[in-house]
Amino acid sequence: MDPKNVVVLSDVWKSFRTSKGGVEALRGVDLEVLSGEIFGFLGPNGAGKTTTLRILTTLLPFDKGEARVAGVDVKKEPQKVREQIGYVSQKGGADRSATGWENLVLQGCLYGMSKQEAKKQANRLVETFALEECIQRFVSTYSGGQQRRLDIALGMMHQPKILFLDEPTNGLDPQNRSHLWSKILQLKEEGVTIFLTSHYLDEVDALSDRLAIMDYGKIVATGTPAMLKKEISGDIVTIGVRKEYHSKVIELLEVESMIREVTPHDQNLRLYVDKGEAALPQIFRLLDQAKIQLETIQMAVPSLNDVFLKQTGRLLRNEEPS
Ligand SMILES: Nc1ncnc2c1ncn2[C@@H]1O[C@H](COP(=O)(O)OP(=O)(O)O)[C@@H](O)[C@H]1O
Ligand SMILES: [Mg+2]
Repeated sequence: MDPKNVVVLSDVWKSFRTSKGGVEALRGVDLEVLSGEIFGFLGPNGAGKTTTLRILTTLLPFDKGEARVAGVDVKKEPQKVREQIGYVSQKGGADRSATGWENLVLQGCLYGMSKQEAKKQANRLVETFALEECIQRFVSTYSGGQQRRLDIALGMMHQPKILFLDEPTNGLDPQNRSHLWSKILQLKEEGVTIFLTSHYLDEVDALSDRLAIMDYGKIVATGTPAMLKKEISGDIVTIGVRKEYHSKVIELLEVESMIREVTPHDQNLRLYVDKGEAALPQIFRLLDQAKIQLETIQMAVPSLNDVFLKQTGRLLRNEEPS
């Protein structure tokens, strides 16, 4: 193994038995996370993100394939893996009937630290995660943002070099989200490798050095955010025309050299073009000549959502947490 690859999955399969038969949650997942990076793991609800994370953190057995974390085989030496990682689950692990401080110190002691060591580390994390104001209160009184920050601090008590975060900002308001983003970036600055799942496109775009997009238990794309977006170079023009005209408009526009691809999406047609500003007048002219009324038109640079759309034929909506 290349020492730079701190997380490696090769051809990992996992199915669950359910009352309706079974679910193939992971269908041959391959990925590599490099030391010191923030690796974003993007996908809609049900894609298999949490399943992947639980496998990597030794909490879930899997059917086939290989998983290594920090060079250690997850199946063969789970305890050794656990010593080197922090894991913050979607729900978090704090005891709500204790104070934040008690949670932190207890966590340290569970990891075999002396009380004094635990208090020292807890003090450091209270500062890092800006928890001074609430740390002596019961966790049950915390705001969503405070609770998520405490959850991550708990995951960092034993100073792991690799941190797994499952949807860390789910349900937070924009201000708390960006606050948490800055804390995650700070951990990276301190040399922690971070594996972060999210169904928020903007989050993965803003934070990750590299990312993988997952859908139905498979990785559909991997790369840096810029690289993935560049693959869909040019601009995307979305036009709204009545549905009965769709096939005629496709026929009309597809032959234009500056329009690389036309795909219907819901009520609209999406045009992948080299240069939006050159394509727009041409689109207006062609539709006008054909006497087809243009109801809406929009131009945008590609986002990760376009990458997802291209790979899966669907848009990844920023749906609200369920
Ligand atoms: N314990 C389980 N039993 C049965 N099915 C499960 C279980 N955990 C996850 N699944 C199913 O596996 C798929 C992937 O789930 P999950 O990894 O939680 O996705 P994500 O975290 O991307 O939302 C889903 O279809 C989910 O319903
Ligand atoms: Mg999940």
